[in-house]
Amino acid sequence: MKALVLAGGSGVRLRPFTYSTPKALIPLANKPALEYVVAHLRELGARDICLVVGDWADTISEAMGDGSRFGVRLTYLRQERPLGLAHAVRTARPFLRDDDFLLHLGDNVFPDGAASIVEEYRRTRPATGLVVQQVADPRAYGVAEVAADGAVLRVVEKPAQPRTDLAVLGLYYLTAAVHEAIGAIAPSLRGELEITDAIQWLIDRGHTVEARRYSGFWKDIGRSDDVLACNRRLLDDLVPAVDGHIDAASEIRGPVVVEPGARVVRSHVHGPAIIGAGTLIEDCLIGPGTSVGRDCTVRATHLSDSIVLQGAQVHTPRGLYGSLVGRYATVGPAEPDEPAHRLVVGDHARVEIIAA
Ligand code: DAU
Repeated sequence: MKALVLAGGSGVRLRPFTYSTPKALIPLANKPALEYVVAHLRELGARDICLVVGDWADTISEAMGDGSRFGVRLTYLRQERPLGLAHAVRTARPFLRDDDFLLHLGDNVFPDGAASIVEEYRRTRPATGLVVQQVADPRAYGVAEVAADGAVLRVVEKPAQPRTDLAVLGLYYLTAAVHEAIGAIAPSLRGELEITDAIQWLIDRGHTVEARRYSGFWKDIGRSDDVLACNRRLLDDLVPAVDGHIDAASEIRGPVVVEPGARVVRSHVHGPAIIGAGTLIEDCLIGPGTSVGRDCTVRATHLSDSIVLQGAQVHTPRGLYGSLVGRYATVGPAEPDEPAHRLVVGDHARVEIIAA
């Protein structure tokens, strides 16, 4: 089966990380988000996968390659500007032709897999099959009104006053009917061709549009808190492996991965946690939910529920939790006589400092 992954877009809500990394390559448990997307699609039976990419085209194709590593064929298509999800589907028409396909958003992660829903759609072939889930605040999503038998009555993109709490998740079963719909709709108020509007167009013309509730874990990693939550969940699936060096004064507890060349010195690592290749952890307490990327130095600190990206240095006596530290960033203590905090903070960064 064919699948389309949308990995263009600008990632505005995930700045400053998306200044130097496309959102789809943000590491979760030390692997780019897109790897989870591609693995999920493979599990759903897709082998021929096209990635729609924007300005980060080269970075993404270098990271993901031709797909042989994942047991699929990956091809790439350039969307010149992020003009909407439906526009991205239109861009990929030469790849899709008139075949049924799965559309997977590149920033949506489904660690529990949606295989049973997709299997049903492949059997019954509705014009569109949606995957929905109840959320606390549906205003950030496409929102569906669904009849008791699963027929979708209405979908609205990011409504200010949602009529239900059912968010449309970033995995769609689509048939060739969607292309006619995309040809017929106009850009939304935010200037994008919305896939939600194309689906509403199909509903209005009597096509079968179905929704199934997904009860597994799902995240759209659009914001930093979602990235951390997703990282935590993916760490739960870690297969423990210690390939790096752990000295006699250190203790490892719970599921922990220590990648080759990493060193853990006089430290406690309480999993689930992953320590990247070539990283030094010294005199630390690394708590659950923590991913440290490759070639980092983490000294004399506590870290939990956090992501530290490649090459970063962390040495904060009070420790960090719920934090995201960017590539080659330094978080360290002040000199003893400094009158206040000293910061060099990148554009759109967020720093929260304890008052006392
Ligand atoms: O996460 C689920 C939600 O995803 C749905 O509930 C919404 O109905 C759907 O519109 C979408 O909303 P977002 O605002 O989260 O979409 P975002 O702009 O983040 O784009 C989703 C992915 O598609 C992301 O990986 C970037 C990529 N993209 C986006 C646009 C606008 C493209 O490849 N091209 C584009 O033109």
